[in-house]
Amino acid sequence: MELDDCIKGRRSVRAYAAAPVPKATIEAVLEAGVWAPSGMNRQPWKFVVIENPELIKYVSDETKKILREVMPAMAKQFETEKDVICYEAPVLILICTQTDKRWGEVNTLDSVLAAQNMFLKAYEMRLGTCYMGFVSYLNNKPEVLQKMGVPEGYELQVPLIIGHPKTKQGAGKRNKPDVKWIK
Ligand SMILES: Cc1cc2nc3c(=O)[nH]c(=O)nc-3n(C[C@H](O)[C@H](O)[C@H](O)COP(=O)(O)O)c2cc1C
Repeated sequence: MELDDCIKGRRSVRAYAAAPVPKATIEAVLEAGVWAPSGMNRQPWKFVVIENPELIKYVSDETKKILREVMPAMAKQFETEKDVICYEAPVLILICTQTDKRWGEVNTLDSVLAAQNMFLKAYEMRLGTCYMGFVSYLNNKPEVLQKMGVPEGYELQVPLIIGHPKTKQGAGKRNKPDVKWIK
C-alpha cells in the first residue's frame, strides 16, 4: 500500500468481526510500534496484548463505571450492557510506560508515536484499530490495572484495539493545513 493511501485511508473502527487476529499479525503491528522515534531512543514502552474477551469486557465495564462518575452529563450513554468502549474488538493492546514524573510527558509522546505506527501498519494489513482514550481513566484504579496485566510501577499510555472491521469504513474528513509560511 502506498504511504499516502495508508495515512489517508486509516479510520477509527468501532465495529469488529469476531474473527481472531493471527499472532504473527499482532507481532508485526508491535514491531512497527517499536520503530517509532522516542526521546533519546529510550524506547520506554512495554506492551500488554489482551485477547481474552472476558478481560476486555471487564476493561470496558470498569471504564464505563468511571465515565459515569467523571462525565455525569454523558452518564446515560454508559449505562448499557453493550460494549460501547472497546466495541467487542478481539484484541486490546496496552502501551505502558514506567510511572516516572521526570519522563512523564516524554513517555506519553513516545507512546503516541508508537501507536500511530501501529495504526498504520494494522491498516496496511487490512485491520481496523481505534485509540481507546477513555480506557486511560483506569490509571486511577491500580487494582484494575493489575488485573489487566499492567506491570507493577507502570501506567497506561495508549490503550488501542485491533480487529477485522465489520463494515467498510467511510472516507475521513480533514481541514486543509492551517499554515503560516515565513520566507
Ligand atoms: C487521544 C485520542 C483519544 C481517543 N479516544 C477515543 C475513545 O476513547 N473512543 C473512541 O471511540 N475513539 C477515540 N479516539 C478516536 C477519534 O475519535 C478519531 O481518531 C477521530 O474522530 C478521527 O477519526 P479517524 O481516526 O477515523 O480519522 C481517540 C483519538 C485520539 C487521538
